[in-house]
Amino acid sequence: MKVTVIGSGYVGLVTATCLAEYGNDVLCLDVDVSKIELLNQGGVPIYEPGLEEMIKRNRAASRLRFTSNIAESVAHGTIQFIAVGTPPNEDGSADLQYVVAAANHIGRHMNTYKVIVNKSTVPVGTGDKVRAVIAAQLTLRGLNASFAVVANPEFLKEGAAIDDFMRPDRIVMGCEDETASDLLHALYAPFVRNHDRILLMDIRSAEMTKYAANAMLATRISLMNELANLAEILGADIELVRKGIGADPRIGYHFLYAGVGYGGSCFPKDVQALQRTANENGIQLRVLAAVEHANLAQKSVIIHKIKQRFAGNLAGMHFALWGLAFKPNTDDMRDAPSRVLIEYLLAQGATIAAYDPVAMIEAQRVMPHATGLRYGEGPQAVLKQADALVVMTEWKAFRSPDFAEMKALLSQAIIFDGRNLYEPQYLAKQGFEYYPIGREQ
Ligand code: NAD
Ligand code: UGA
Repeated sequence: MKVTVIGSGYVGLVTATCLAEYGNDVLCLDVDVSKIELLNQGGVPIYEPGLEEMIKRNRAASRLRFTSNIAESVAHGTIQFIAVGTPPNEDGSADLQYVVAAANHIGRHMNTYKVIVNKSTVPVGTGDKVRAVIAAQLTLRGLNASFAVVANPEFLKEGAAIDDFMRPDRIVMGCEDETASDLLHALYAPFVRNHDRILLMDIRSAEMTKYAANAMLATRISLMNELANLAEILGADIELVRKGIGADPRIGYHFLYAGVGYGGSCFPKDVQALQRTANENGIQLRVLAAVEHANLAQKSVIIHKIKQRFAGNLAGMHFALWGLAFKPNTDDMRDAPSRVLIEYLLAQGATIAAYDPVAMIEAQRVMPHATGLRYGEGPQAVLKQADALVVMTEWKAFRSPDFAEMKALLSQAIIFDGRNLYEPQYLAKQGFEYYPIGREQ
């Protein structure tokens, strides 16, 4: 099938590449010309495991192409996926300017039937907006071409995006047009071969499902973080509590890890945007307001531990930092909890030597003026003469370090662990002072 994907970010690139993998003829558009140039030279603007090889394979087979030519991209696919950003406005609502621009592009150039599939995370009612924008353009052009608008939110996780897309646990399809529904069922058939995982519904319910899913997941995390903070004071161990509650199938084991707060490009903005939608409709989402509040506080939990341990005086101290990205297996620094810590430590006059397996270049890009922050070549390399190590991302490579070597390198054997990677008793035996989240200190 001929498919156009508008937007070559995390969602657009993964969508385009996975669709090409099953033999579709995919053209991916971006208005960021430098991104398209890089992709056309064989580069990949983001780090996502497995993506580079998959793009290479599908480009070589001419099933995947990249362009910044809008007219060409609209002409190409009967199916036009919109996968552009929906960042937060200052008031927390979703900024729809990129979605509207994409709809305008389609309306200005389409001449035949198109199915416009919105993959971006958008507030309920956006489907109607997209339809109105395209209809207005067609009217201006005096054209009577028919089209359908579909809401098909994306649930992939960064770091596991290809697997999530190739083996989705569900495909939510808000679609009220039979031809469009048939086309999309055919497009997605190879992805849901063994199970019927396509959930067909109306557009508004599909749009809301996306926010509801992220709100539910963010709520679990914030609740676990608050329980961890309580466990610490009560002398309980959140890791044991987690296992104890996860065994209940109504709760389940996933997404129960206490840490330094959720970050990334989606939970923070989507939790805000859903509240904003509710407010605009005269409803208060009190639980979600608390989730957001708790998460902001959690991002400073490690800071409080550091302040307490060093009696508040951090000027002139030197810290080693393991992990910059908001989660492992990505270079995404959007809303990464490490940024809150870095900003604080530098403002206090401390210095930092940081290491992350893939996010250091991106970190440098988003924090260009962070004097006092330098990057090291490996986890051990940043430990030298540090007063403490702080772990902010649970990369696999950090899980089984050589503690004896670490002790020799650090000037004080102190670890603040925002991801509970180690066993407190074992670390005590190794001679470390260890500060995890929600566990014995
Ligand atoms: P991104 O910022 O990585 O990429 C968006 C891309 O769209 C950019 O490259 C930008 O240049 C391009 N763009 C903007 N306007 C355009 C236009 N008119 N025409 C063509 N290209 C245009 O964003 P992302 O992380 O891929 O997120 C995209 C959407 O998907 C958001 O709504 C997000 O909430 C949602 N989402 C993201 C994830 C994720 O893990 N990142 C997962 C599920 C859903
Ligand atoms: C999240 C959702 O998991 C995806 O389903 C969704 O498609 C995506 O948002 C989106 O809408 O963009 P993502 O942000 O890539 O995916 O990463 P997650 O694995 O969900 O992690 C989000 C944050 O929560 C990270 O900072 C992570 O460290 C934190 N987290 C996650 C915890 O603190 N504890 C956990 O148990 C799980």
